[in-house]
Formats: sequence, structure tokens, C-alpha cells
Amino acid sequence: MSNYNKKVLKYFLNPKNRGKIKKPDGVGMVGNPVCGDIMKIYIKVSKDEIIENIGFETLGCVAAVASSSITTEMAKGKTLKQALKIKKDDIVKELTGLPKEKVHCSVLANQALKKAIENYYSKLPASTTSTAKTSSCSASTKSTASTRSRSH
Ligand code: FES
Repeated sequence: MSNYNKKVLKYFLNPKNRGKIKKPDGVGMVGNPVCGDIMKIYIKVSKDEIIENIGFETLGCVAAVASSSITTEMAKGKTLKQALKIKKDDIVKELTGLPKEKVHCSVLANQALKKAIENYYSKLPASTTSTAKTSSCSASTKSTASTRSRSH
């Protein structure tokens, strides 16, 4: 196992917001081209565009679970615009660091969140989507996702 700090291990062993949520308004799924792992994020959005509920499922490693868990905590209660500003580096910083070879895992959570927000905006009538553009990501989309974690 890589050298994970206490905070990463805490979020891995006791992940917050794990699992699918009921009737999500947006779903984002990405696959990590580096390792082939998968991440899915679900969001429930209020009328004033606040993320009021969020959940994740991942087929990924310790860092992927910890990154997605802390990402959901960082995004919950924020407006969609604020959540779109969360960067990979913010996630790593919030985890007080990841082993260098595991930083790519934090990208997965970040991109899945952005895809979920894009998915939410894509369902809105065209006249309300002027603020909805996000940058495209390099991760590939995969067709399956389940909850699993690995010890690497
Ligand atoms: S997400 Fe694949 S190794 Fe971490």
C-alpha cells in the first residue's frame, strides 16, 4: 500500500456520502485512463442551484475513495458555480496530500463532479443554460460502475 496520510486513510475507512442518491438531478461518470478505474457522482440540486445532496460510487483505489469522499463534502452546500471551481489541487490539499503516484486519482472525483453538473445543466431548458459551460475533461466514459475499493 502506498504511504497514505492519516486523513486519507480516515476518509477511505469511513467515506462520507458513499452510494447512489435518490432521484439525482445530475450524474457524472468517468474512467481514469491511467489505471482504468471508474467514478460516478450523483447530485441533487435545489431551485437556487445549490448542491443539497451528493453521493459517489467508485471502482477505484484508496486515493480514489478518499478523494471522492472529500470532494462530495467540499461540494455539498455549494452553488453549482462554486462547485465547478473545485480543482484537483484543492482536493489534494484538503486531504493534506496524496502520494505523488496517486494524485491522478483525485482527478477522477473532480471530473465526475463536473460531469454531474454538466449533466444537470444538459437537462435544463435551453434558455436557462447560459451559465452551464465547463471545460471538457480527458477522462473516458465507461459503461459500468459499482462500489468497490482496492488496497493499492
Ligand atoms: S483511481 Fe485508479 S489507481 Fe487510483
